[in-house]
Amino acid sequence: MATFLVTGGCGFIGSHLCAALRANGHGVRVLDDLSSGSEANLVPGSTFLLGDVCQPMALREALDGVDGCYHLAAIASVQRGEREWLVTHRTNLSATVALFEAARGRGIPVVYASSAAVYGSTGALPLHEDSVVRPLSAYGADKLGCEQHARVAGHVHGIPTVGLRFFNVFGPRQDPTSPYSGVISIFCDRLLRTQALNIFGDGQQTRDFIFVEDVVRALLAAMARADTTAPVFNICTGQGTSVLQLAALVADLCGVKAEIIHQPARAGEVRHSIGSPLRAREYLGLGSTVAIRDGLEATLAWM
Ligand code: NAD
Ligand code: UD1
Repeated sequence: MATFLVTGGCGFIGSHLCAALRANGHGVRVLDDLSSGSEANLVPGSTFLLGDVCQPMALREALDGVDGCYHLAAIASVQRGEREWLVTHRTNLSATVALFEAARGRGIPVVYASSAAVYGSTGALPLHEDSVVRPLSAYGADKLGCEQHARVAGHVHGIPTVGLRFFNVFGPRQDPTSPYSGVISIFCDRLLRTQALNIFGDGQQTRDFIFVEDVVRALLAAMARADTTAPVFNICTGQGTSVLQLAALVADLCGVKAEIIHQPARAGEVRHSIGSPLRAREYLGLGSTVAIRDGLEATLAWM
């Protein structure tokens, strides 16, 4: 069995990945600074290194003896990227370069989290991996930067990588407590407390919401596809849901009527984001995805 480093393993997606790796009998080492993750999310049997992914020494030690690395640590909020441009840039791009540098010469494959935010609002839907990339946010620009440095990592330094462009991931353990949290965790939390929902803009903006279990399946399959051409894959369902439709769906599942307060639209936001899952299905061997209603039920049951 292999041993994997998971950066950001105390976070939402990372903790689900660690659980799956342990269930498959692998050794798991987690590097996390607990800035948005929680030690309570640590999976039993994993080794925890409290540290910052921007620190070369911490990265080199964390990579010692591992068979592969999943790089998920990041500041995952588009909005925080607008408010704290340089701080988020350091974690979202400089740390990825630091990781590739630490992996250099060691033959360690890296699967890293990119994002649908690389596309921006560039036209035809669904978005394919070959669609134009023109990020509208600092967060999206940094994720695109990760992909470009991954190409350098492969071409110049022989590091095998795969980038996964996650669309909007949701599920149990997604923290609803911060204003920077994902919309589904916030809507579920507020409706369970019968509080009003804030909707930014007209609510007609769409997102491709994908359940975290599907994302974990993609992460597991991706490690074997890491190579020096630095491939990237959309991780999405191909189905769009507007924020207003989402509010109605969650309200229905909670058995309440949603009170909606419209707020000004957020700056730097993408209007429509729906991806094509076809390439990931073909190359990663992924099957059909969990229906949004089933994923929401599982999320509400966890809350
Ligand atoms: P999360 O905030 O739950 O997890 C991120 C983890 O990284 C946390 O445990 C946090 O403590 C850790 N971290 C942050 N900065 C760090 C640093 N400097 N050093 C060490 N650890 C640090 O977020 P998530 O939703 O699980 O996102 C995981 C990855 O997936 C991120 O790279 C994110 O950008 C990407 N992504 C997420 C989504 C989504 O919808 N959630 C979509 C696209 C891409
Ligand atoms: C999300 C992810 C980001 C990822 C991207 C990929 C989070 C926090 N962000 O960004 O990491 O790279 O998907 O597509 O998981 N909204 C409301 N009311 C609220 C909260 C949000 O109307 O209370 C709206 C937003 O304005 C936006 C939509 O819901 O239109 C989704 O917002 P959010 O969950 O923050 O995600 P993204 O910005 O799409």
